[in-house]
Parts: sequence; C-alpha cells; structure tokens
Amino acid sequence: MDLNTIESDEIGTVAELPAARAAAAKKVFVKTYGCQMNVYDSQRMTDALAADGYTATDAMAEADLVLLNTCHIREKAAEKVYSELGRIRDMKAERAGSGREMLIGVAGCVAQAEGAEIIRRSPAVDLVIGPQTYHRLPDVLARVRGGEKIVETEYAIEDKFEHLPQPKRAEVIKRGVTAFLTVQEGCDKFCTFCVVPYTRGSEVSRPVAQIVAEAERLADAGVREVTLLGQNVNAWHGQGDNGEEWGLGRLLSRLAEIPGLARLRYTTSHPRDMDDELISAHRDLAALMPYLHLPVQSGSDRILKAMNRRHTARDYLGLLDRIRAARPDIALSGDFIVGFPGETEADFEATMDLVRQVNYASAFSFKYSPRPGTPGADMPDHVPEAVKDERLQRLQALLLKQQQDFGSSLVGRTIDTLIEKPGRQAGQKVGRSPWLQPVIVDENAGEIGDIIKVRITGTGYNSLFAELA
Ligand code: SAH
Ligand code: SF4
Ligand code: F3S
Repeated sequence: MDLNTIESDEIGTVAELPAARAAAAKKVFVKTYGCQMNVYDSQRMTDALAADGYTATDAMAEADLVLLNTCHIREKAAEKVYSELGRIRDMKAERAGSGREMLIGVAGCVAQAEGAEIIRRSPAVDLVIGPQTYHRLPDVLARVRGGEKIVETEYAIEDKFEHLPQPKRAEVIKRGVTAFLTVQEGCDKFCTFCVVPYTRGSEVSRPVAQIVAEAERLADAGVREVTLLGQNVNAWHGQGDNGEEWGLGRLLSRLAEIPGLARLRYTTSHPRDMDDELISAHRDLAALMPYLHLPVQSGSDRILKAMNRRHTARDYLGLLDRIRAARPDIALSGDFIVGFPGETEADFEATMDLVRQVNYASAFSFKYSPRPGTPGADMPDHVPEAVKDERLQRLQALLLKQQQDFGSSLVGRTIDTLIEKPGRQAGQKVGRSPWLQPVIVDENAGEIGDIIKVRITGTGYNSLFAELA
C-alpha cells in the first residue's frame, strides 16, 4: 500500500491552504440515496473534496457544488433524482443571477447506468461521475470549472481507494462512534432482477492491509463499531500477512484484535457465500454482533431459479440452522421481492411460509421493479401492480409482527448498548442494541462511545426503552 496516499490528506486541511484559496473556500452539499455503500462513498467524496478546498454544508442553497449520490436499484429511486434535479436547476438559475456559480454533479449508480443521458434530460447538470472514479473528482471539477461538461463513467484501472484521501481525525470524530468501511465492491452474481452488476462492475476485494489501516484509523479516532460493507461482502477474500488466502471470517478475527473496536458487523451477504469460517466467526468472536442480514428474496424454488439466486429455500433454511447452531442468539434480517415475473399465488405463499419458519427480527420488502437491461425485465408474465401491492401488504404485515414480537421478547432482559448520540428529546441519549435497534436511555446513563448494560423496559415502533442495569 502507498503510505504517501494515506498521509496526503494531512496537508489538505482548509486552514493549511494558502490564504487566498482558504478565503475562497467553497461549499459542497452532498445528498445520498440508496444503500450504505453510497453513504460511505459520499463520505469519501467529501474527504476528497476537502483536500480540494471544499467544506461540507447541510444547506443546499449556500452550496457551490451540489452532488447527488444516486441509486438505480428500483425505478422509483432512479426517478427521484430527476425531480430533485428540477428543483436544483431552479436554484442554480437564481444563483446565476447573483453572479455566484452553482455546479451540479450526479454520482452513484444512476450516473453509471445512464451516463450522458442525464445531461440530455437535465442540461443544468455539469458532471456525471460513476462509483469507480470518485478519486478523479478534483480533476474532473477543475475541468468543469474550465467550462466543460464531463461524463466520467469508465471503470478506472487504478484502485480508487488507494487514491482517495482518508478523512482527517477531527472529521471521523464528528461522524460519530459507528462507521462504515467498504471492503468489497461490485457483484458477479447477476440475479435477473438486479442492476448492481452493471452499475458497480465485477467483484473486487480491497487488500487486507488497506482495510486494517483504515479500521485502525477509525478506532484511533474513537469509533467503537465498524460495519464492513460490500454488495457481496461475504465474497470478500484477500491475502493475510502470512501469505494465506483469507475469507471474511479471518478478516473479522483480525479486525477484532484492534484495541477500541468493540463491535463488528457486515452487510450485505449472499447465502451462497456463507462459508464455515464465517459461520465459526459468529461463534468465536465476541465483537461480532449477533445480527445477520441475509437476503433470500423469495421462498419459492421456481422463483429463486428464475431469479438466478442459485440456491433453494431448503438450502437457505439449512444454512440458517448451521448459523443458529454456532450463535443461538443471532437475529436475522432479510430482503424480499414480491411480484417477480411469473410469481403465482402459490409461489408467494411459499415466501410467506419461509418467513414464518425463519422468524425475522427485521426485514426489507419490495415490489419487483423491472430494470432496463436486466433479464427479468424481458421475462413473460409480469405480475399486475395491484397484485404486487396486495402481496406486499400481506408480507409486510407478517414481517412487522415478527419485528415487534422480537422487540417485545427483549423486555425485562439486560443487554449491552453502545451509546451513540444525544436523543431527540431533552434528557435522553440514544444507543444501539446488538440487534441494531435504537435504545433510548437517560442522558446520564453514560457517555457517547460507552458500552453499558441496560435493562429493557419497553418498546416503541422500532426502538427500545431502557434503564441502566
Ligand atoms: N447484494 C444484495 C442486495 C443488493 S440490492 C443481495 O444479493 O442480497 C438490495 C435489495 O434490493 C435486494 O436484496 C432486493 O431485495 C432489492 N432489489 C434489487 N433489485 C430489485 C428490483 N429490480 N425490484 C425490486 N427490488 C429489488
Ligand atoms: Fe444484485 Fe444479486 Fe448481486 Fe445482490 S447478489 S447485488 S441482488 S445481482
Ligand atoms: Fe442503489 Fe447502487 Fe446501492 S443501485 S442500492 S446505490 S449499489
């Protein structure tokens, strides 16, 4: 790894810029759509722009650069971007009247999927940049300021992570005691409904040393909980210090050794990549939280096959048995799609059955959205919207009941909670349970970053109430 790259942001603070440039410090407003990887990418883009003299702002109206980090996963997500661009265009026009320029950039998965089409549809957009080229953002901006419109969606040959500056310590501290860390990107699975293999490219794992160094920097700045990210995070593999091939389980054990890092999580996993080593990590590592997001999408083997998930419902249930044997208190979460082309009532009932058998602690469920360029979009027998609506309602009612039952089952129990931030109401702080629920405690229960023992006294819609045990 190139250590110079890691150190390079230390000279990038606004305070250390030449006076003239610092005085003209520009502001960037970043709006993030989609998954946690986009949240992480937005932070890294903000870090790259900080080294280029930009400070982040929460107010779009005062920004010199508005950057939308977009998601293409469902039609609704992608269309949201265009309505937002309409609003920003008006703001840009107003600003032009006052003589101060506002640049508009589109990043993320819509940028990768639609490229120049975005500028055709929204001519106010100045730059379009795909997820694999964020390290080139400062160069791209320099060219945009020179009057060009730029579409940068080629997959770069160089490793973007090695070229993206790390955040400064103060910035990490500001972001809080939990952090995301992308360890794997892209996807080679080609599920027939999904755009990710096209928007994020093929599977790439970051090297062990790079990940460990980043995790150490986070821990050094007071981060207590790190969530490893990847579109297929459990497909991560790399070479350990000993030259051995490591899987995610080994990486997690290595990260668990870092002083200060008390909690580890990873998301999102594919059932086919849950190997024995990773399952054992759930038994052996106290730092690995007993919560697993393991999407299954459907409980019907026929639909799973059409989706190209390459496993059956029985495979999935058998896998969960092994995971639960390793870590009996593990809570499960999943993703579901209803109304995939050809899904019959019987197929949908198979999904409901699977959900009843698994008993999820939380879950995300979606109506199938045909995506241009994916095989699913061209399949026959699309399910009518009204049927999708009705199935989604039934599934969500069941999942919500399971989630609430899980919350209620914790009442009276004593659990660990990581205190994360002040509460929305005065006198409160909000922590996080091992199973990701927000835990509301008295503000004197502990300091932010503390892990405290609390007794659960009640449940809210999605949260737990607790007192110091
Ligand atoms: N890599 C993860 C999922 C990433 S996308 C995995 O393999 O499970 C997140 C979720 O969005 C998916 O799990 C799926 O439930 C949903 N999704 C993806 N494409 C979709 C589409 N075309 N329509 C509806 N939901 C979709
Ligand atoms: Fe999409 Fe399937 Fe890859 Fe997940 S595994 S990102 S659902 S193609
Ligand atoms: Fe969306 Fe891209 Fe994530 S399509 S879900 S932002 S990988």
